[in-house]
Amino acid sequence: MIEKNHVAVLDFGSQYTQLIVRRVRELGFVSKLYLPENLEQIGEPGAIILSGGPKSTSDPDAPDIDFEQLRSFQVPVLGVCYGMQLLNIKFGGSVQSSNKREYGPADLFPTECAGLYAEISERSQVWMSHSDTVSNLPEGAKVIAKNQHGTPVSLQWGDDYYGIQFHPEVTHSHEGLAILGNFLSKAKDLQPFHIEDFKRQLIEQIRETVGDKQVVCGVSGGVDSTVLAVLLNEAGVNMRAVFVDHGLLRKNEGAQVREIFGRMGIEIETIECEERFLTALDGVDDPEKKRVIIGNLFIDIFWGAVGNAEMLAQGTLYPDVIESASNDHSKASKIKTHHNRVDRILELQKEGKVLEPLAELFKDEVRELGMSLGLDADIVNRHPFPGPGLAVRCPGLITKDRLEVVRDCDKIFIDALHASGWYAKTWQAYACLIPVKTVGVKGDERSYEWAISLRAVISEDAMTADWVELPYSFLRDVSNQILNEVSGVNRVLYDISTKPPASIEWE
Ligand code: XMP
Repeated sequence: MIEKNHVAVLDFGSQYTQLIVRRVRELGFVSKLYLPENLEQIGEPGAIILSGGPKSTSDPDAPDIDFEQLRSFQVPVLGVCYGMQLLNIKFGGSVQSSNKREYGPADLFPTECAGLYAEISERSQVWMSHSDTVSNLPEGAKVIAKNQHGTPVSLQWGDDYYGIQFHPEVTHSHEGLAILGNFLSKAKDLQPFHIEDFKRQLIEQIRETVGDKQVVCGVSGGVDSTVLAVLLNEAGVNMRAVFVDHGLLRKNEGAQVREIFGRMGIEIETIECEERFLTALDGVDDPEKKRVIIGNLFIDIFWGAVGNAEMLAQGTLYPDVIESASNDHSKASKIKTHHNRVDRILELQKEGKVLEPLAELFKDEVRELGMSLGLDADIVNRHPFPGPGLAVRCPGLITKDRLEVVRDCDKIFIDALHASGWYAKTWQAYACLIPVKTVGVKGDERSYEWAISLRAVISEDAMTADWVELPYSFLRDVSNQILNEVSGVNRVLYDISTKPPASIEWE
């Protein structure tokens, strides 16, 4: 099928490229990613965006584009960062290489308030990430915005070709979405994006890829794996849903996972292995050792159960793909890589046996997809929960007693967030046991018990996070309830650390 009237995004290698696709969808239009050397695959687009990229246009192996072919589409074109520099060269201008990198916020001053900058503020924050800059402008090129130093950061060549040095797709570019919207308003009859159509396409693709093979899907009750299992179920393929209960889950979570899948009419196989995990973790207090033990044991158990699988489905999302690809060393990416990108899985991937239908999507898009699949709001809006579970919320040694204390405190906190309406306004929240006993007074007796830390954060992609300003009265009530009802705890703290420098989890 020839794709028509969509927004074709050409990938020159920036880690933000998929974010452009996502922003175009957010603006309501169908968008697809292509490699610049595959222009013949892009069908009949309504607009084209050239992404940024890590190379310099002067590098011998710098990615290029067939300019004649690009022009033959006769549609509006926007070059972002590297894309803008490449367009300037193609129009006969030049680019100056530099070893100095400009990374971070800058001020944008549009020199005209129409076109790309219609209704954009006279001064607006944008996000830069580049070394090279356009130098000589070709004849007919027009500067349409400058930065705070008066340097051109946005160009127009003729009627249909635009360039911007900054990244409109990241939220730090405060009016980036509106600028992209202004660009897209130049295009005619763009194909509207509807999650329903997108869902149908995904289901079609799954049917085609899986055929009559059996596909195994690991489920945890989290949003991503649940949406994935429901998609596979909708596609009507031969699926086995496997839930490894490692005993590091929250209060009643195993039962909740079974209830969630029961509600959707999907049968799951549960592998109960709490004892194996607790035995393996006995006496281990080093956070990295814990992760390795949990990751490896999880894989051993999962593969022990499904080792003969013809296909494996994973709920990998786009941020996981970027993080693995960019070799980002954040804790989450390392562990996600561990779970989704272990050697065994990479081997299967080479054989075409790994299915990752959500790999183009971001968390909030998966939630929207989940809603369109008919999942209940309480399932799609669940907070993220780390693979190693409560092990990372129980610093130091992990024992059944400590896990029980964390579970009870966490339940009180999360229930209170739900009851007060704060759960939905919070990206992630949990209780963590601080492995320090503190002195207190309970009744007339001296007590010597654990301290509990409560953490609630807002975040967009987990890479940065801020703590939530929960009302004092709310914190007071939760603290009282924990101190009154959970034995073994005599102190409650609220964590007011941002990420960075702290991380979201304690370990
Ligand atoms: P941090 O603590 O790195 O967490 O700021 C960022 C996000 O990732 C989750 N997280 C994990 N998820 N395996 C996972 O699947 C892990 O080992 C892991 N560690 C952290 C964390 O809950 C937060 O949402």
